[in-house]
Order: sequence, then structure tokens, then C-alpha cells
Amino acid sequence: MAHQVALSFEDGITRFVRCDADETVAEASYKARINIPLDCRDGACGTCKVFCESGSYDGGDYIDEALTEDEASQGYALPCQMMPHSDLVLRVPSTSAAAKTGAAKYTAAVTGLERLSRTTAGFTLRVDDREALTFLPGQYVNVTVPGTDLARSYSFSTGPAQRETSFLVRLTDGGAMSEYLRDQAQVGDRIEFSGPMGGFFLRQISRPALFLAGGTGLAPLLSMLEQLAQQPPTHPIHLIYGVTTDQDLTHVDTLDDYVDVIPGFTFEYCVADEASKARNKGFVTSLIDSGTLHGGAADVYLCGPPPMVEAVRTHITGLGVTPANFYYEKFAVSTGSVQ
Ligand code: FES
Repeated sequence: MAHQVALSFEDGITRFVRCDADETVAEASYKARINIPLDCRDGACGTCKVFCESGSYDGGDYIDEALTEDEASQGYALPCQMMPHSDLVLRVPSTSAAAKTGAAKYTAAVTGLERLSRTTAGFTLRVDDREALTFLPGQYVNVTVPGTDLARSYSFSTGPAQRETSFLVRLTDGGAMSEYLRDQAQVGDRIEFSGPMGGFFLRQISRPALFLAGGTGLAPLLSMLEQLAQQPPTHPIHLIYGVTTDQDLTHVDTLDDYVDVIPGFTFEYCVADEASKARNKGFVTSLIDSGTLHGGAADVYLCGPPPMVEAVRTHITGLGVTPANFYYEKFAVSTGSVQ
């Protein structure tokens, strides 16, 4: 049986290859014209060493000089030897350019435009070659703003299995995408994007997880939740979503729906504005304690603006708790980067 192998490069670009049952990851990569670093191809030199973020595999034959027992137990593996038993996500310690590849390019048609809140819009695309587009929930693409040569980065808010792909945009004055969506966008417009990119993606759920979203940082977490709706987790997932004012809230109904669909999923939201009608007023940090972190036995996934990311890190350090893993994506509205 063939499996899908995600090769996540140092520069954030991810390429996907199909690996047949009798193939090594290196063979499958070369067949797809992706030159991951290789030398001996025999498990002797260690040149091809990667880190396996998720999935199971047969590590094959190799000598200790190429991969020590300790490294293998941590999750390092040799693509010239490894054969997948499941879909894999591998971190490759080289750039995509060094592997003579790059971000894949896609064309799509706009099929939906929505004003979701005072400050948030959404758009939905039907990708021309949908079969060719693969991504990990949490990743983003670089979208060329129609009518310009400017690119802006947006995380998928839909899951990898959904036919159409959606994105959230924080509307800003003078923002290229904001102006396009406000003034010109029409259903049927053509859009190009490249990707997928980013190391912020859902890993195998092997312990409780705490999802933290600030504003449109909710998008990648929605994509992760959609994946979890398809593959129910065996550990609890709690999400805390923070916005500035009541008018910024969006997708609360969607989160409510996921509570019914994903076993063990709960969420809360908070609003920073003192005048808010929300039950929780303040920042997401006010809702994080040792209990929500399971005393450190939780993986944290955080997407929000840089001050929020820093505030959460400082807060968690102050609690004296170290999460098992801390994955985060920062986005900066002014530069239109990841949202
Ligand atoms: Fe030498 Fe894989 S290329 S160990």
C-alpha cells in the first residue's frame, strides 16, 4: 500500500511524495524529482538523516555511525533505508532549493466571499487541480493578490480533505488583500497561490492538547479541528480563542459544532475589551493555568500576533510549567504575513 510522505524543508516549504510499499523514502523522493541530501544510499554515512514528526515506518538497515540507537529512539531516520507503514511527516535539514524543488503553484477560482465580522473576511477557492494540492492542517500558502504582484500569506481554515479551501483575512486599512476583498472581489475571480508552507501543523495527538488562537490565528486551528473531526483524537483538546472586541468574534458557531463532533473537544473565548458582553473578559492568558496545561503533559498549538505569542510564553514560564511541545505561528498584520 502506498503512503503519503510530507517532506518539510528548512525554508518552510513542504513537498509531498507518494511512497509505494516496496520503496524507500529516498527512492520515492527522487522519482518525484526531489533531491533530498544523499550520499552512500546504503545506511552508512548519515547524510540523509531526517527527523520524523509523525507516522510509523521500518527504519531499515544501517550502521551506528550513520544513526545511533539514541537518535533512532528520538525519531531520527535515514530516508535511504526507511519504508513507511503509514503516512509520514519528515523534517529535512536542507532548503527546498538545495533539493532542487520549491513551492508548488496552483490556480483557483473564487467561489465564496464573506464578511465574517467587523474586522474579518473570508474567501473560498475551488482549486483547478484539487487532487494535486496536499497540505498539513495548520499550514499556509502565499496568495497573489489579484491585479497586483503582491503576495500575502494565509493559513487554510478548511481541512486537507475538503474539496474547497477557505481562508480568513484580517481587514486592515490599506492592506492589499483587504482592499481587493472590500472593493473588487467577485465570485469567479481567478487567484494564484503557492505552497504549502510552514512548520505549524498538527502532529499525531498522543497527549492532551491546548489550542490557542488570537484573532484570525483561528484559521489554522479550524483546519486542525476539521482533521480531528475526521480522525477523532483519543485525548482531550481544549481551545482558547481571544479577540479584541465583541465585533471581532467569528466562527463561534463552528466551534460549537465541533464540540458535538470531536470527542473530548471543549473551547472558551475571551474578549479584551472591558465593555464586552463576553463571559470572559481579558486575554487568553487569563484562561491558562496548570490545569489547562495538564501540569505540562500537554502539547500547545498557538497562532496569533507576536505580542500574544510572547505573552503566552511568559505566562506559561511564570506558571512553572513546561508543555511537552510548544508549536506556534506568529503573524504580523502590517506585512500581511501568516494569518
Ligand atoms: Fe548514506 Fe542514507 S545516504 S545513510
